[in-house]
Amino acid sequence: MADYDAIVLGAGAAGLMCAGVAGQRGKRVLVIDHADRPGKKILISGGGRCNFTNTGTVPDRFISANPHFARSALARYTPADFTELVEAYGIAWHEKTLGQLFCDGSARQIVDLLMAEGAKGGVEVALGEPITAVDHADGRYRVTFGDRTASAPALVIATGGPSIPKMGATGFAYDLARRFGLRVVEPRPALVPLTLGGDEVLFRELSGVATEVVAIAGKAAFREAALFTHHGLSGPAILQVSSYWRHGQPIAIDFLPGRTPGWLKQLKRDTPRTTVARTLTAALPERLAAVLGERLALSGTLADLTDARLAAAEARLSHWAFHPNGTQGFAKAEVTVGGISTAELSSKTMEGRRVPGLYAIGEAVDVTGWLGGYNFQWAWASGFAAGEAI
Ligand code: FDA
Repeated sequence: MADYDAIVLGAGAAGLMCAGVAGQRGKRVLVIDHADRPGKKILISGGGRCNFTNTGTVPDRFISANPHFARSALARYTPADFTELVEAYGIAWHEKTLGQLFCDGSARQIVDLLMAEGAKGGVEVALGEPITAVDHADGRYRVTFGDRTASAPALVIATGGPSIPKMGATGFAYDLARRFGLRVVEPRPALVPLTLGGDEVLFRELSGVATEVVAIAGKAAFREAALFTHHGLSGPAILQVSSYWRHGQPIAIDFLPGRTPGWLKQLKRDTPRTTVARTLTAALPERLAAVLGERLALSGTLADLTDARLAAAEARLSHWAFHPNGTQGFAKAEVTVGGISTAELSSKTMEGRRVPGLYAIGEAVDVTGWLGGYNFQWAWASGFAAGEAI
């Protein structure tokens, strides 16, 4: 049996970050992953260019049963810290939009950076072996993988969440956490397309149509593009609200964001001979304008319509209710909302409050970021916090 100071389960974003930090502090670290390559999700992230952080990172861009939990780790390892590391490796980057930083080249550069940081700290990485047993006795964790067993006083759960199972994602983190008595907040697919059924199935005919909207679920609202698909709704605005959406709830879409209330009444005064259909066609993609116009069923010129009817149309256009019948599930979800309960962990070190030596980081934990580089920032920050502590 080989002895280490820490064993990290999962060679993804959080696990590799944690291992590199601990290794460079002089700790003997082993990382184990059942995949044959490290950082597979990093490789496909950001369309292959990895949206590695977001300069607008603040705690309220993360969803968790305890919204304050992420605060400490995020403050101690910031987007500027990771960007500095990226620059130290000569990786060129650019800001795309809304503070989202991407590699100019390839996401592989980020995986190479993490592996190089690990190598600097003498981190050992064991790939392609399933983990067959994890035990805890006499203050040490013992992990069996393939035909080897390793032991350490610290064990870090960094196996992520179950989104995109065909890439090897599993619910392993939750099973392991439960075995050690840690609670798990019910995991749900997030940053995921929503599906439409019933009457709203007709909107699927708009498949391929995209437009800028404000999408609203409860108190959360995002102004970005929405996209109609064969299954229902997608695009950044919809992915963002999906993280807040619960089965049975409606979502609302403002199809004409930024208009001053009363604009349709004003338009009637300014151009009384125009029609609602023409107004929609001028502002929206043609096919969408046609479907919305049909459903509003307001024929004739604006002058023919009462102010009350125009006010009702305006209200509907700015708060068009959709009733998703589900999501496209973990198969299509970028991340998972829920996970190992933050109530079980120290927000400073990510160590189990009741289980000394057991740490959980990254997506496995009940902290989920918005779309746009926030999830990697959480992986870096939580990985750094644990790497400093073990
Ligand atoms: P991560 O999933 O990275 O790593 C977990 C590791 O554990 C994997 O290597 C896996 O093989 C391993 N593992 C799982 N089960 C195991 C088991 N039973 N035994 C052994 N090993 C096991 N975020 C962002 O900020 N910017 C972006 O651009 C994107 N883009 C993006 C695109 C797509 C398509 C997806 C699916 C996701 C994103 N994300 C993203 C989200 C981001 O990828 C995610 O939040 C982080 O990778 C989470 O890092 P972790 O290290 O926690 O898990």
